[in-house]
Amino acid sequence: MRIIVVANANEGGKTAAQIFSQELQNGAKVFGLATGSTPLSTYRELCNSDLDFSDCSSVNLDEYVGISAANPESYAYFMHQNLFAAKPFAHSFIPNGMAKEIDEEISRYNRVIDEHPVDLQILGIGQNGHIGFNEPGTPFDSLTHKVALTESTINANSRFFDDIRDVPKEALTMGLKSICQAKHILLLAYGQNKADAINKMVNGPVSEELPASILQNHANVTVIVDEEAASGLK
Ligand code: F6R
Repeated sequence: MRIIVVANANEGGKTAAQIFSQELQNGAKVFGLATGSTPLSTYRELCNSDLDFSDCSSVNLDEYVGISAANPESYAYFMHQNLFAAKPFAHSFIPNGMAKEIDEEISRYNRVIDEHPVDLQILGIGQNGHIGFNEPGTPFDSLTHKVALTESTINANSRFFDDIRDVPKEALTMGLKSICQAKHILLLAYGQNKADAINKMVNGPVSEELPASILQNHANVTVIVDEEAASGLK
């Protein structure tokens, strides 16, 4: 893993945007995208750049079950607000959490991933080491699947909702095997509350108990952390 320590999330966003730019120059056509607070500074940099994604595709990691793309808390809405309105892609794929037949939607999304192999995948990390919505215990060979969110993730995500009872209890997520098919993975983490997960991801045993530890087995991972998130690294 290549680890880049930056001063803060703004610097991290600039560094990540440079990596997007290099990948575009190298011919990357498919970008795997994440939501949450971590990628916001990166998306801001991309929006303010002259980078052009109009002949690229994007494939998002995950979406809540049961809320539509028009709901401001949906990940589809988040992506539109924070990136796609300013930087449209030729095609943007996000799991459809409103699909009536969830199993069919899961199969469809696995086909999307197969047909659009990801060149650069951006990831955040949960305090428990989750990536996407792959919580501890998720099999390393998982493809897209439906998950019941853990209490800790529901609590962490409740900051985006008026009431914790409004936080969806289920989500669709790319699996750990799907994520690791990306040619280059760019994981971002900022803040003290990510320090333990980052240390275990980098130095801990490769274990399904810390989903992000699977990245130790991937040949091309770049990690951008601020000093707080790096503070647990031995
Ligand atoms: C979001 C996602 C999640 C987040 C993680 C960190 O698409 O897949 O794994 O990356 O929960 O969230 P933040 O960035 O809000 O700390």
